[in-house]
Amino acid sequence: MISGAPASGKGTQCQIITKKYGLVHIAAGDLLRAEISSGSEIGRRAKEYMEKGQLVPNEIVVTMVKDRLLQSDCQENGWLLDGYPRSLSQANALREFGFQPDIFILLEVPEENLVERVVGRRLDPITGRIYHLKYSPPETEEIAARLTQRFDDTEKKVKLRLQTHHQNVESVLSLYEDITIKVNGNTSKEDVFAQIDSVLKKVIEQKKTTSEAM
Ligand code: AP5
Repeated sequence: MISGAPASGKGTQCQIITKKYGLVHIAAGDLLRAEISSGSEIGRRAKEYMEKGQLVPNEIVVTMVKDRLLQSDCQENGWLLDGYPRSLSQANALREFGFQPDIFILLEVPEENLVERVVGRRLDPITGRIYHLKYSPPETEEIAARLTQRFDDTEKKVKLRLQTHHQNVESVLSLYEDITIKVNGNTSKEDVFAQIDSVLKKVIEQKKTTSEAM
């Protein structure tokens, strides 16, 4: 699992992690945005909460994430949950469904950097890649011309998202305390990944040793 404040770099790191480790990336925010794009009633309701920077109710999110985790690719390749769980009730629901992470990565970035990261974020609708106008600019004019911005990526909305994050983060952390690794997210994305990668290598090594001993 990977966690952290809005724009702490979760999605960026997930793209690098999945490329190397082949895990299935499940981002609650992406699932919700896909539902909004589909034009469904659930998507319409979810957007009302996302516009206000609030958590979307469990009756929508919990089943959505559970159903995705139960798909065969997650069982075969392993999963990487991004932005979920975000409350104690979501964490408890996951546990009851039998999903237990090997590791809980917490990205730490000072709050004053988060707003700038949000406002400058752009997305490539074709490749799904995450860019930043200053820190990770698009490689070509063609890509630059097609970049889009998320509807909740404004200074005002990110402040609301940060408030929601602060209200909930401690309760989730308390449940995963024994497997939490804090990572300094306030450095280049390559350096952040190097920290995560060394942790993941150890986890894989430990799992190998345990399975060999059985
Ligand atoms: P969600 O989509 O999960 O948004 P978030 O948590 O606010 O996180 P972000 O996606 O904004 O940021 P990120 O950490 O992935 O950063 P990124 O890598 O893009 O959730 C949106 C909404 O959905 C929520 O507000 C809520 O309403 C709802 N929701 C989601 N999950 C829910 C749940 N479990 N329950 C209920 N409701 C839920 O990076 C950000 C920018 O910084 C990019 O431009 C990037 O290029 C740049 N960047 C990344 N790394 C670096 C670096 N090291 N240095 C410099 N720049 C960097």
